[in-house]
Amino acid sequence: MEKIIKKAVFPVAGLGTRFLPATKANPKEMLTVVDKPLIQYAAEEAVNAGIEELIFVTSSSKRAIEDHFDKNYELESELEKKGKTELLRIVQEVVPANVTCVYVRQPEALGLGHAVLCAKPVVGDEPFAVILADDLINCGGNCVLGQMASVYNDQHASILGVEEVPVDETDKYGIVDPGETDGRISQVRSIVEKPAPEDARSNLAVVGRYILTPAIFKYLEKIPRGAGGEIQLTDAIEELLAEERVLAYRFAGKRYDCGSKLGYLQATIEFALEHPELREAFLEYLMSEFGQAGKGLLKAIND
Ligand code: UTP
Repeated sequence: MEKIIKKAVFPVAGLGTRFLPATKANPKEMLTVVDKPLIQYAAEEAVNAGIEELIFVTSSSKRAIEDHFDKNYELESELEKKGKTELLRIVQEVVPANVTCVYVRQPEALGLGHAVLCAKPVVGDEPFAVILADDLINCGGNCVLGQMASVYNDQHASILGVEEVPVDETDKYGIVDPGETDGRISQVRSIVEKPAPEDARSNLAVVGRYILTPAIFKYLEKIPRGAGGEIQLTDAIEELLAEERVLAYRFAGKRYDCGSKLGYLQATIEFALEHPELREAFLEYLMSEFGQAGKGLLKAIND
């Protein structure tokens, strides 16, 4: 089947204040879960979904991201000289040969909507994906963006990756009002950024995966600043609804909010327990230190 979604935007220009001081000089997206930075998990998800162009919206303090996806001649030649072929392969395969990386600057952190708008000249007039690397999603072989790209191929409408969140946490997310529902897919009737629990129409929250039609750009260009004084992608999607259908997709997979310390720690433990080199030794450590808690973790991972 012809690939329709070929470009993915990675907004990585936020300040990462919830992770200070770690994010004072290092990008939040370079925080490492076991042995890979968050941004690499996100890029791998995009590549697995058939994306050919990775568009990073960066800022002056995010140069490490550019370096991570660039070739490192010195490191590669050292690994080659020392015969460390497996490590050499890992380093060389960070970006597959058929995939291009493009970097666009967001001069000021004016919000997620503004960051996506900064990518407009590179995205052009085609549907595209948006991935927030701090929402790390573990979904085995069938990555969330791949699931959403299949839905797009069928439906040709913007798609928001959603999951149910605790009712008292609606004020942390964009919350959709779901209409007609068929399996994992609902029509979106409206969407509101960070509503108080008493005002929220549901507990269905948008997490960091979107497929958007290029019509979104004209709304991003004209919406005023919204919640938190930022230009909100959510507000532009609400405007888009007057013109086009938008769908909410309940993805299959487990999400970790790696923009928060707790979510990041949960991801680190669970990814370590799935890592072929670490799993056994790490579990042994957890069992010896935490007894029953270790058994509980093993059960959670196996379920
Ligand atoms: P967040 O609000 O989760 O990230 O934005 P943040 O602002 O970096 O972190 P905190 O809340 O201060 O801890 C969601 C995503 O949008 C990007 C962020 O980098 C993150 O991936 N973003 C946010 C931008 O690229 N530009 C912005 O102006 C704001």
